[in-house]
Amino acid sequence: MTETYRKLKEWYEQNRRILPWREDPTPYHVWISEIMLQQTRVEAVRGYYARFLTALPDISALAAAPEDVYLKLWEGLGYYSRVRNLHRAAVMVMEEYGGSIPSAEEELRRLPGIGRYTAAAIASIAFGKRAVALDGNLLRVFSRLTAYEGDIKEPAAGKAAEEYYLRILENEPSAGLLNQAFMDLGATVCLPNAAPRCDTCPLAEICLAHAAGRETAYPHLPAKKARKIEERTVFLIRYGDAAILHKRPPKGLLAGLYEFPNADGKLTEEEALRYVAALGFEALRIRPLPPAKHIFTHKEWHMSAFEVRADEFKSPLREDMLLLSVSEIREKYSIPSAFASYTALL
Ligand code: ADE
Repeated sequence: MTETYRKLKEWYEQNRRILPWREDPTPYHVWISEIMLQQTRVEAVRGYYARFLTALPDISALAAAPEDVYLKLWEGLGYYSRVRNLHRAAVMVMEEYGGSIPSAEEELRRLPGIGRYTAAAIASIAFGKRAVALDGNLLRVFSRLTAYEGDIKEPAAGKAAEEYYLRILENEPSAGLLNQAFMDLGATVCLPNAAPRCDTCPLAEICLAHAAGRETAYPHLPAKKARKIEERTVFLIRYGDAAILHKRPPKGLLAGLYEFPNADGKLTEEEALRYVAALGFEALRIRPLPPAKHIFTHKEWHMSAFEVRADEFKSPLREDMLLLSVSEIREKYSIPSAFASYTALL
């Protein structure tokens, strides 16, 4: 191994982030952490990771878990298809691999929710296989080290980066360690949205962007598309000590999760009363609640809201609506973070 990468490993040994899934990197641990980390920051994942493993300590426990249990463990992490796929994959591993997660990238990639990156991360970190876990950090670090001039989002950039790292791995016995060293370098030194800390970087002397004094010019990004903005009106409908939740349809955004009833557009109080009446409730009182925003990957919800105290309701309720005590909602139902401002008012 070259002197330069020896410095990177030395840097990693002294500066690596202490992360719970690094303590005991079994395939199950690495897999769960990588899925959680796909769209969520390391700091936000810590608590969820611990809670998830306490409740579902191994693959057979996950495979046997009921939907409401694993959804609840994911509550607030977002992108719930990740946990549905985890569960499906756990069932497949039990049925097809006798409960042992496979070690080959191609086999890992047959499992729901495991793409190129995640397969390489599990194969390298948990099984020591020579694979490049090419995430945003590795791409950015690559683009600066080589002063890569192409658009970093294009497949060609991924290919070039993969080849670059594979060449390094040819002489490196510990692919998992090197992948994680590059991840940490990207996350703590070769920073994306702040000035990179080149003065502490173990690779500064081979970095072409640094040599040119143009670190922040890389990576080259395509122009961003604006997110679509959707107005919604959210209803906190109370009846006695209970409140109404709606179960979302099984497909699409936030599929199958519970939410407060909500309607398209920014309704006036009068329209809101009509909406509530159409659900079968006679409103005793109505008051506006503060507005809230939630940002998804491709859209933003701009929410206005009403709290409605119901006097009476038509029984039975619509099939997709549930009347539940507030404590039951808190303990058993997964309400997406999009509604957090209103969940807090329950
Ligand atoms: N992000 C995703 N996987 C990671 C890991 N193993 N270490 C640090 N950050 C990560």
